[in-house]
Amino acid sequence: MEDYITIALPKGKLFKRSLALLAKVGYSAEGVSEDSRKLVIANEETKVRFIITKTVDLPTYIEYGAADIGIIGKDVLLEEQKDVYELLDLGYGKCRLMMAVPESKRRPELKDYAHLRVATKYPRCAREYFDKLGIQMEIVKLNGSIELGPLIGLSELIVDIVETGTTIKENKLVEVDSIFTSTARLIANPVSFKLKFDRLHKLVTDLRAVLAEEKA
Ligand code: PRP
Repeated sequence: MEDYITIALPKGKLFKRSLALLAKVGYSAEGVSEDSRKLVIANEETKVRFIITKTVDLPTYIEYGAADIGIIGKDVLLEEQKDVYELLDLGYGKCRLMMAVPESKRRPELKDYAHLRVATKYPRCAREYFDKLGIQMEIVKLNGSIELGPLIGLSELIVDIVETGTTIKENKLVEVDSIFTSTARLIANPVSFKLKFDRLHKLVTDLRAVLAEEKA
């Protein structure tokens, strides 16, 4: 497989845009789709292989070299802390990690939220944020539908990703603080990056050019 470039793409919000962007720089294969039953899809001609992963698992595939490169949100990189190279900020997939509460539970200051329970998919980032604020919180890790936490009394607060704002609005939650913003990043396995430097360097250069063109 040394002459192949293996690309990991995450299911979900970044999938379509990432697939389209890679196709513009000649990285494509027949039949790559989010719900494909085939786990590995190769293009024999251009020597490219695609694997589709669950979002949170993607950095692990890259760290272990199961894929050479991948596209993933900065939020996942900050949470997962894997040993990968970040090659390029792709600019799309813009969202932010924030803290939200039910409208009725809003308090005057951030420190007034101490000693409450927080539901989140991002326990590491949430812990770091509350430590910086110097407030103690009980963090409950969930894997999805975080907004359910305050609705059913599992937690008073949530720390979660907001993109359009629809989900928090629909669940009558209000944002009380923004923690960081995130965009999609191109990442690489450090060893792959050295061994396949020429191809990967060209890929980064080509992607930069396409992104600049799209912006212009
Ligand atoms: C994310 C996030 C929010 C939603 C925010 O969840 O956890 O629930 O998107 O998007 P919005 O501001 O555009 O409404 P995702 O769709 O990844 O699914 P999940 O709840 O199953 O994790």
